[in-house]
Amino acid sequence: MTSPAEHMSEALSLARKGLLTTRPNPMVGCVITHNEKIIGRGWHEKSGDNHAEINAIHDVLKNLGSNAESALENSEMYVTLEPCSTTGKTPPCSEAIKKYGIKKVFIASEDNSQDGFANKADGIEIEVGLLREDARRLNRGFFSRIEKNRPFISAKMGVGLDAGIALSSGESKWITSSESRKDVHKMRAENDAILTGIGTIVADNPSLTSRDSGYDEDKVMQPLRIVIDRNNKLTGNESIFQVEGNNLIFSSNQNIDSHNTDFYPNPSNKEINLKEIVQYLAKEKSINNLMIESGSGMFDALLDEQLIDEIILYQAPKLLGKDRKSFSNLDVTNEKLSTIDFQIIETTNLGEDKKIILRPNYK
Ligand SMILES: NC(=O)c1ccc[n+]([C@@H]2O[C@H](COP(=O)([O-])OP(=O)(O)OC[C@H]3O[C@@H](n4cnc5c(N)ncnc54)[C@H](OP(=O)(O)O)[C@@H]3O)[C@@H](O)[C@H]2O)c1
Repeated sequence: MTSPAEHMSEALSLARKGLLTTRPNPMVGCVITHNEKIIGRGWHEKSGDNHAEINAIHDVLKNLGSNAESALENSEMYVTLEPCSTTGKTPPCSEAIKKYGIKKVFIASEDNSQDGFANKADGIEIEVGLLREDARRLNRGFFSRIEKNRPFISAKMGVGLDAGIALSSGESKWITSSESRKDVHKMRAENDAILTGIGTIVADNPSLTSRDSGYDEDKVMQPLRIVIDRNNKLTGNESIFQVEGNNLIFSSNQNIDSHNTDFYPNPSNKEINLKEIVQYLAKEKSINNLMIESGSGMFDALLDEQLIDEIILYQAPKLLGKDRKSFSNLDVTNEKLSTIDFQIIETTNLGEDKKIILRPNYK
């Protein structure tokens, strides 16, 4: 491998190894080259552990032994995110990069939460922007939290051919194929938190855990489950209070006796504003990626507030009947609706179903 883009691409692959473990930190990968050959690789595994750059330097020291320091002095580093220049849980990477005399640093994407590696890197040549879009996509939740003060928000829906999400009885289990359900469990594992509406809790009593995702179960961190309960319908007996993982409840009833539950500290919840909630999740809970698994009530409210970044539809070849519940009931005469259209980003087959990823275009 010789091209800078290939080296950065390898750094991005290394970064992806942290998919389930780095939160709330971003995924970061790094390779170090000497005479265009890779001499060290590193990635960030979890908050508090070494950053990718330090792991890559350690890898060079291990691989090259007594020749490592002279090789590092003439080396180039490819890192997917701007190196940190302040002391967090670990010392600044900028110091280590300087200490080992790395000649040039390629950075895929800037990190606005830092105070500028370039200001601290006197004498080091820096090139920013190689595979920037890929690097930003990889950490879209982190960038959303840092730049928009809210998580990246993905809404998942299992729908029939007629856009039904439940039978008239409210029953919605088993609409989609086992392949789609497995994909949803994967999606749950990849998100920091899941927000649902009280309507879904009452109708389905879901546990909202990630099971059978295909990922190494030891690595899966159960997403935080978030329920907005404006009319105090939760009793404490629901499945979310019995299963592994934690809950965060927005409700004025803070008396639910549960070992795995926190309550939003402001109980005057009749006025709960969805924008404030998602900002609170970013600021106070460091949530990068938020998944929505709700019925149309919560989905429409979020869409109306332009808070959904991506919709994932699992469409099954079934009809749910004329009195079905639909995935959206936004009023078509609502002026705002005409200002939302959707772009299909990707369509794949999953078992008998189609998985359709859409992006709302808000104007
Ligand atoms: N197929 C699928 O993928 C899928 C997934 C989930 C659910 N479902 C089905 O969907 C149905 C439930 O739908 P649903 O619409 O009743 O449930 P929902 O979307 O889970 O919850 C609706 C509730 O959200 C609350 N809400 C609405 N706007 C709000 C706002 N601006 N701020 C805060 N809270 C707000 C309201 O609660 P208050 O009443 O407290 O005001 C409303 O009753 C069930 O039949 C379930 O099986 C299907």
